[in-house]
Amino acid sequence: MFCYSIRVNKLFRLGVLGSGKGSNFAAIADAIDAGQIPAQVGVVLSDVEGAGILSHAREREMAAQFIPPGKFRTKLDEDAERGYVAALQAARVDLIVLAGFMRVLKGDFLRAFEGRIVNIHPSLLPSFPGLESWKQALDHGVKVTGCTVHFVDAGVDAGPIIGQQTVPVLDNDTPESLHQRIHAVEHDLYPKCVAALARGEISVLGRRVLWRKS
Ligand code: GRF
Repeated sequence: MFCYSIRVNKLFRLGVLGSGKGSNFAAIADAIDAGQIPAQVGVVLSDVEGAGILSHAREREMAAQFIPPGKFRTKLDEDAERGYVAALQAARVDLIVLAGFMRVLKGDFLRAFEGRIVNIHPSLLPSFPGLESWKQALDHGVKVTGCTVHFVDAGVDAGPIIGQQTVPVLDNDTPESLHQRIHAVEHDLYPKCVAALARGEISVLGRRVLWRKS
């Protein structure tokens, strides 16, 4: 009698959260389609019913759901938080990718996915956390800014840094022109970081994130 075993390689699954147009999500989905990220999108969730990110997902025939955020303006209320956690668990996601999700994640959500949530922020953290960081960079007069992909912890834009890419600030920049150039660079950086996470090439040592080629 022959004995054999079949090893089914489970594909790494992403849960994506966004509130806006979803250009970072589209860049990640394109990279998956191009075979650059060994992952699949389990579900896309949004706190904004008409968000572009949901349309992008539906156009690609991915599971996409609007979950009302509840009574607060900058965070999810308890019921909503439970709804998000349940939807992400039901989709069996390995990594939560925040792609322009405009609410701070708290307690139970962070505990449910500890060490498995990443975000992209449009500045070179720890400079200029919070809102409109391209405007903060211009107002401060820095000559170089950029974007950062980082793990999410209980702080705001504060977790260990996975990757950064720089963007020069030009003398004739307006907030809009600078924001646009940062956005373009995000579409390069985020897929690279998600690919490294999906390949298991990322490890965390205290605050330091180490990249190892597999
Ligand atoms: C990006 O600028 C990102 O840095 C910030 O939210 C924006 C999302 O843009 N966290 P998009 O919806 O991916 O186009």
